[in-house]
Order: sequence, then C-alpha cells, then structure tokens
Amino acid sequence: MDYALIWGATGGIGRAVLAGVRAAGLHPLAIARDPLPLEAEGYDAYAADVTRPHDVAAAALWAAQQSGGAVALWVYAVGAMSNGPLADTSTEALSAAIDVNLIGAHRAVHHSLPLIPAGGHLIFLGAYPDRIALPKLGAYAAGKAALDSYITVLAKELRDRTVTNLRLSAVDTPLWQRAPFRLPRGARQPHEVADTVLRVYRERTRGVVEA
Ligand SMILES: NC(=O)c1ccc[n+]([C@@H]2O[C@H](COP(=O)([O-])OP(=O)(O)OC[C@H]3O[C@@H](n4cnc5c(N)ncnc54)[C@H](OP(=O)(O)O)[C@@H]3O)[C@@H](O)[C@H]2O)c1
Repeated sequence: MDYALIWGATGGIGRAVLAGVRAAGLHPLAIARDPLPLEAEGYDAYAADVTRPHDVAAAALWAAQQSGGAVALWVYAVGAMSNGPLADTSTEALSAAIDVNLIGAHRAVHHSLPLIPAGGHLIFLGAYPDRIALPKLGAYAAGKAALDSYITVLAKELRDRTVTNLRLSAVDTPLWQRAPFRLPRGARQPHEVADTVLRVYRERTRGVVEA
C-alpha cells in the first residue's frame, strides 16, 4: 500500500486531504499539533508543532516506522495567517509567521525527505504572492512569498521526485478567522482542494499549479 504523509492534518484543507487520501486507497499518516481527534476517527496520527525541531524530527521517525520509508505522497498543509500592519508587528511576531509558514516547511522537508523514494510526490499549498501582498497581511504574505521561491528551487534540485506548488485562491477554512478582511465570495471548499491534490498526484503534475 502507498503511504501519504500529511502535515497540518487538523486544518480545514489538511483534514479534507486526509479524508480524500483515505478514500482514494492510500494509507494516510497524519501529523498535527493535536492528533487525538484524528486518532478517534481511526487515523494513524502523531503530534508535532512544526516550529519545534525536535517534534518534527520525532514525527519523521514515527512516519518512517509506520511506512517502512515509502511515502508516495507528502503534503504540507500547515499555515498561519497574520493580521496587522507591519509597522505594528514586532520582530518576534514576524519571525513566528516566517517560522510556521516557511521554516516549518523546510523542517518537514529536511527530516522526512529520506522517506520519499524516487518517484514520490511533494505537494505544498501555496498562495498567489502578488495577490496576498495586502495591507495588514504583511507577515503572512512575506512567509508565503518566501515559500513560493523555496518550492521553485526545491523542485529544480529534486529531479527524481515530483514537486508541486499548488497555488490556492481563497478557501473557506478556519485560516480566515485571523484574516484582516472577510472571506471573499466564491471561495472554494476544502474538499475541492483535496480533489485537486489527488488529481495532481495521479497525473504527476509538477511545478506551479494554479487552482
Ligand atoms: N484557506 C485559504 O484561503 C488558503 C489560500 C491559500 C493557501 N492556503 C494554505 O493552505 C494551507 C492550509 O490552510 P487552511 O486553509 O487549511 O488553514 P487552517 O484550517 O487554519 O489550517 C492550518 C493548519 O496549520 C496548522 N498549524 C498552524 N501552526 C502550526 C504549527 N506551529 N505546527 C503545526 N501545525 C500548525 C494548524 O494546526 P491546528 O489545527 O492545531 O491549529 C492547521 O492544521 C496553509 O499553508 C495555507 O497558507 C490557504
């Protein structure tokens, strides 16, 4: 059986991806800050805060034991929105936003890449950097823009795996509870994103995918 490793599995999109992956016949391994609700639903889950290096290393070790080192699909669905003008943002708050949105992704890659054999697929949930460069969204926008470049370079370096930057417009999830404005009309639903993730995986689509 093919394994799928989902980071941020309790989020709006992460949870939908988790369910979609299971329905598609893959064996999902869920990483979340609080894995208990997922375990109650029968998922194999492990606790990790991506801002804590030790947590991420331990989660990768757990995933290695579960999967035997054969993760076919890897999804980074962690993210945190910020809300406030840059002039009022402390360096600690900016650093925390970069930590969760960018460095956390790198921690996850760094520790779990050895579990993804040649032919495996890494999917990041990105944003449209130019569209989110908006007032009061600076810390999030900076983290996502940096992640966008990070994914571009990673894709060029990992030629034997498929790397996808799935750029999303608005999706109706709890992320928006911290947004400086309302969820736009016509926002997509998390299950639609999960369908796109699975399509991208099946079709082995690499590079930027605009969803
Ligand atoms: N929703 C949108 O409109 C939209 C648009 C473009 C891109 N995206 C991206 O899609 C991804 C998923 O977002 P979402 O919409 O599903 O948001 P969400 O519902 O708020 O989920 C965010 C996830 O990140 C997790 N998380 C936050 N900080 C963490 C930390 N320090 N360690 C571990 N996990 C942490 C949350 O964990 P808890 O469950 O414990 O809080 C949650 O599982 C994010 O990367 C987001 O930037 C979303």
